[in-house]
Amino acid sequence: MLTNHKYAVFVSGRGSNLKAMFDAFAQGRLSYKPSLVLTDNGAAHALEYARENGVETAFVDPSVHKGRKAFAERALMELKNRGIDTVCLAGFMRIADASLVQAFRNRIINIHPSLLPSFPGLDAQKQALEAGAKVSGCTVHFVDECMDTGTVILQAKVAVLEGDTVESLSQRILAQEHRVYPEVVQALMEDRIMISDGKAEIVEGRGK
Ligand code: GRF
Repeated sequence: MLTNHKYAVFVSGRGSNLKAMFDAFAQGRLSYKPSLVLTDNGAAHALEYARENGVETAFVDPSVHKGRKAFAERALMELKNRGIDTVCLAGFMRIADASLVQAFRNRIINIHPSLLPSFPGLDAQKQALEAGAKVSGCTVHFVDECMDTGTVILQAKVAVLEGDTVESLSQRILAQEHRVYPEVVQALMEDRIMISDGKAEIVEGRGK
């Protein structure tokens, strides 16, 4: 049986992780479609995927809602108006304001293209290559008040190969992102992510 949780996906650009959620929904791996796709970029390609899938979009214009706090205030309004209680950041290029984190504590998640806590912030794949890492990957984590420091929920490893470029490594990491993010969204929507001692664990669903 479906829960009553409703989620929004926050995007800024390409939207391949959003597309992966729609694909997972179409394939029955994800039982929930987003109720809203919110963006800070009215030209984001991700919005195409929302429209194709009949999902409502909201553009919060950062040149109107200036600064982290004002942006969050407007975003919170969009979420509350629709009864949304869960937020998935997917290539959203702004740091979430503390007010947003507090309103959605343990119901706001992000995906990052490295094995956190290694290589937080921008250009994670480039950082991994420059550090000579042999393994990188992706991390789905809860969002807290700092950047890329929230509790890890699920990670996938990707080997760094000889001759890898930022592009080739990013592509292989992205394939893993598209696999794990819908899996975590499904678990979050089904209340199957348990947190204790600052550690998160996905538990199997009933009847599995
Ligand atoms: C992904 O690599 C994600 O890990 C990072 O931003 C990128 C977004 O890609 N946070 P997309 O917009 O989902 O294609």
